[in-house]
Amino acid sequence: MYLIMRVNIVFIFLASLLSCGKKESVNPIPASPAADTILFTKMPFPVGAAINVNLMQSNPTYNAVVKKEFNSITAENAMKFAALHPTENSFTWSNADYLVSFAQINNKRVHGHNLVWHQSLPAWVTGFIGDSSAWENLLKTHIQTVVTHFKGKVASWDVVNEAFEDDGTLRNSIWRQKLGNDYIARCFQYAKQADPDALLFYNDYGNEYSAVKRTAILSLLNSLVARGIPVNGIGMQMHTRYNQTDANISAAINSAASSGLKVHISELDVALNPDNNVSLTLTSSLLAQQAAKYLFIVKTYNAIPSAQKFGITTWNVSDADSWIPGQYNRPDWPLLFDGNYLRKPAYKAMIEGAN
Ligand code: XIL
Repeated sequence: MYLIMRVNIVFIFLASLLSCGKKESVNPIPASPAADTILFTKMPFPVGAAINVNLMQSNPTYNAVVKKEFNSITAENAMKFAALHPTENSFTWSNADYLVSFAQINNKRVHGHNLVWHQSLPAWVTGFIGDSSAWENLLKTHIQTVVTHFKGKVASWDVVNEAFEDDGTLRNSIWRQKLGNDYIARCFQYAKQADPDALLFYNDYGNEYSAVKRTAILSLLNSLVARGIPVNGIGMQMHTRYNQTDANISAAINSAASSGLKVHISELDVALNPDNNVSLTLTSSLLAQQAAKYLFIVKTYNAIPSAQKFGITTWNVSDADSWIPGQYNRPDWPLLFDGNYLRKPAYKAMIEGAN
């Protein structure tokens, strides 16, 4: 009897040692601000991240943080035109499908990004020769094949991305050149035909630094809505910086909300090195200023009417994954998690801003 008890005790001791070790390895997020904090459960609206499929599959820490902290995901690149539709008659769904099934298994919303953009176009599109009806057919086929494939699984789409220049004129993209100014309206109609339940967004950057651009975007969206074009929301990318003024950020968020549309802060990151200083180092003062900016953005966003709060999505997960350093060839630390997936002051600020 004594022997059996002893064996049991030793077994329980060993098992608890093992389970401690296991817990640490699947939960790399540190004990700040509280060991059991989960970002999305603290927020009154969905909170998302742009997801890199390779990292999702190769980096267990990245995967665990996405699973734990966010309840909405956007494909960083996997649903763009060139990724899904590399040749005229072929579609490659595997990476995007992987994200969608991750989302279904883990109960996350999927926001689709994006259907029509001037970037990430395959050579067969940029070199396409055809009259306006052939171009129209190309556009419609792409939109409807993609939206139909993800029908019922992708809840919302950035239908048109970045159609304006910073000076408020319509970008002279290949789409505008081939199809005329009103192509934007038709993109929304084609998407709606393919999935009447999906929420359809116009997405762009610069709302917080260019008043003429945000005014132009809003006047287009208001006119589309007035014509009965199925536009449900406005996405503001908000690739911003720690020293952007609060007045500009408020103007962007509140003017978007004045449209009555759903508002998505769709690609948030807060750069700390906007002047491209190649030898900048990270300081606690910069981290604090970044946190203050995240707090202000979230607080301002949280004050718009509830029904318009589609959510806030950061553009990737950790500073090691951000597109900013590669894009601008500089060190930077724009996100909520550091390169080791530890929570930064900005993480806590997100929660404070909404509570
Ligand atoms: C970026 C991705 O983050 C990069 O990995 C890719 O090389 C280029 O595109 N606006 C958008 C996003 O709408 O799709 C862009 O994403 C960032 C700017």
